[in-house]
Amino acid sequence: MSNIKAAITGVGGYLPDYVLTNDELSKLVDTSDEWIMSRIGIKTRHIAKEQDKGTSDIAVPAIQELLQKTNTSPEEIDFLLCATVTPDHQFPATANIISDKLGIQNAFSFDLNAGCSGFLYAVETASHFVESGRYKKVIVVGAEKMSSIVDYSDRSTCPIFGDGAGAVLIEPTQEDVGIMDSMLQSDGSGRVYLHQKAGGSVMPASHETVENRLHFIYQEGQPVFRSAVSNMADTSVKMMRKHNIASDELDWLVPHQANMRIIEATAKRMGITREQVMINIQRYGNTTAATLPLCLWDYEKQLKKGDKMILATFGAGFTWGAIYMKWAYDGA
Ligand code: UT7
Repeated sequence: MSNIKAAITGVGGYLPDYVLTNDELSKLVDTSDEWIMSRIGIKTRHIAKEQDKGTSDIAVPAIQELLQKTNTSPEEIDFLLCATVTPDHQFPATANIISDKLGIQNAFSFDLNAGCSGFLYAVETASHFVESGRYKKVIVVGAEKMSSIVDYSDRSTCPIFGDGAGAVLIEPTQEDVGIMDSMLQSDGSGRVYLHQKAGGSVMPASHETVENRLHFIYQEGQPVFRSAVSNMADTSVKMMRKHNIASDELDWLVPHQANMRIIEATAKRMGITREQVMINIQRYGNTTAATLPLCLWDYEKQLKKGDKMILATFGAGFTWGAIYMKWAYDGA
């Protein structure tokens, strides 16, 4: 086995300017700040208001910041992987569009859809390209314009989601840092609880699908909630045991930001305190494939080289999993 490891060596992020508050949502549907805060834990989310802008337009500024922070030029990038459930178009891949907009010309690129677990799946995928020794600079971006598939007349889903993007640079290292292990899983039978009914090959767009509002997120919250808690917690605990990481030895849990109650339940099962958990759901909501890199982006300054962290997700598919990582640089 090669002794090259793959490590995250920089983070960039971007959130659209417009901030959608719970009070504004309360004017659209029968809900309240009190209900949303107690059941989900979200105060605000960012929304891309411009009709003609897509997910690539949210990803581009996140990657621009990443390139600038890491002193990397677009020509140096070998491979760009975009995790999203809200691509600009059915085809071509949003990753191709992002690369074009940024002048990334010496790379191949494609999209990966694994629901809210997209970023984790993408980091795992990209890490093997880097570990092979053939690819030196790889970008993984999680980017979503969730507002393009949220039904703002459905109170059970519209408070949850937000738009945003987070991007990381992955490079080879021979030090004892980077991606140490992963446990990823999927179970397609969970699709009945969380999906978008129309717009794919099973139900192409028609007058009927539009009239019946079938191009929006469909979610049965409770079964998704139950599976999210058990699978995220089980996998994270399994990862801790496999690597003999005691609760007080873990520096960070980086959990998917779907619901504050899911995050708290996962942390409790792992026996860790709130100070060990990255949380920004209050401000950004659930940005699907962008939640994990946006957490890393928010907490970057607090991170130290060698910090032990577990990234854990659950999402549509169902898909879920955890990655164990040792942070590769001092954030400050
Ligand atoms: O990121 C992808 C993975 N997704 C998730 O992890 C989401 C997992 N699920 C959840 O986070 C929660 O199930 C939700 C936040 C979606 C819903 O919370 P819940 O505690 O499971 O509520 P519920 O669906 O059981 O609804 C409870 C009540 C219902 O009223 P009745 O039937 O008891 O009278 C709903 O109609 O709350 C009502 N309700 C609301 N009330 C005020 C649902 N949405 C709202 C709302 N405001 N926005």
